[in-house]
Amino acid sequence: MTESVLSPSPAVAQAKSVPAAITTPLSMMNVSKRYHQGGAVVEALNNVSFSVRSGEFVAIMGASGSGKSTLLHVAAGLTSIDGGRVLVDDVDLSKLSDRKLTHFRRRRIGLMFQSFNLIPALNAEENISLPLMTDGRTEPLKKLDQLLDRLGISARRKHRPDAMSGGEQQRVALARALITDPALILADEPTGSLDSVSGQGICRLLRELSQQEGRTIIVVTHEPAVAIWAERVMVMRDGRSLTEFATSDFRDSQSLAAHYQHVVNGPQAD
Ligand SMILES: Nc1ncnc2c1ncn2[C@@H]1O[C@H](COP(=O)(O)OP(=O)(O)O)[C@@H](O)[C@H]1O
Ligand SMILES: [Mg+2]
Repeated sequence: MTESVLSPSPAVAQAKSVPAAITTPLSMMNVSKRYHQGGAVVEALNNVSFSVRSGEFVAIMGASGSGKSTLLHVAAGLTSIDGGRVLVDDVDLSKLSDRKLTHFRRRRIGLMFQSFNLIPALNAEENISLPLMTDGRTEPLKKLDQLLDRLGISARRKHRPDAMSGGEQQRVALARALITDPALILADEPTGSLDSVSGQGICRLLRELSQQEGRTIIVVTHEPAVAIWAERVMVMRDGRSLTEFATSDFRDSQSLAAHYQHVVNGPQAD
C-alpha cells in the first residue's frame, strides 16, 4: 500500500485555495462516552457539545471526575466515543483509520500533561525532537533553537529531565508539543505539578501562543489563577457541559473563583 499522507488535511488545503474559508479547530456535537466499571456504567461524557474558534484560548474547569480529561482525550482522538461527532480542523476523527488518526494527531495536535511525560533517558533537545523523529521528519535545527530560545530553556538543552526543575520540564514538554507546529494545543492540568510562579509562566506562554501565533489552546484546570489567562471558561459537571463564561467579565482570579463556585454549587438554598 502506498504511504497515505494526510497533511495538509483536506480542510487545510481548502482553506489555502479559498482564503475566506475558516476551519473550526475543534467542534464536538452531542458527544457521549461511557465507561464500564464492574457492573456499573459511568457516563464520562453525556451529550456534550462544545466548539472552539481558531486562535482561541479556552479553559475547561470542573470537579474531579466531571469528564475534563475524557473530553480532552476525545478531542485528541486518543479515546473513541459512543455517540456524537468530533471534528478537528473540520475532519471527522471517526472517519480516519487508526494509522491516519495517529498521523493526523502528530501533525495537527500538540499535547501536554500534568506529569510532563518526558523520557528520562533523553535530554531536553532529544525529548523535544522526538515527535519529528517518530514521524520520520528531519526539520532544520533552527526550529529547535528558536523554540528553546522562545521558551527560555536554551541553557538546559543538554540536561535530562531529572536535572531540570518542574517548570523547566514543562517548558520542554511545551516545546515538544510545538515542534510539529500544531494549530491546536490540548493541555491537561499543565500547571498541576508546578509552583505558582512556574505555573503562571506556562500560562503566559500559552496566552502568547494564542495571541501572537494564532494557535488554539484548550487547557483543563481546576485553578482559577490558570483559567483567568484564557478568554473563555467551559465548566463541566457529571459529564455534561454545565455553563460557559468569558473571563473578561472578571477583574481577577478571585472573582472568577467566586463565580465558578457559584455555578458549580448551584444557587444556595434560601
Ligand atoms: N479508563 C477509564 N475506565 C473507567 N472509568 C473511567 C476511565 N477514565 C475515566 N473514567 C471515569 O470517567 C469519569 C470522568 O473521568 P475524567 O474524564 O478523568 O474526569 P476529570 O478529568 O474531570 O477528573 C470518572 O467517573 C472516571 O472515574
Ligand atoms: Mg483529569
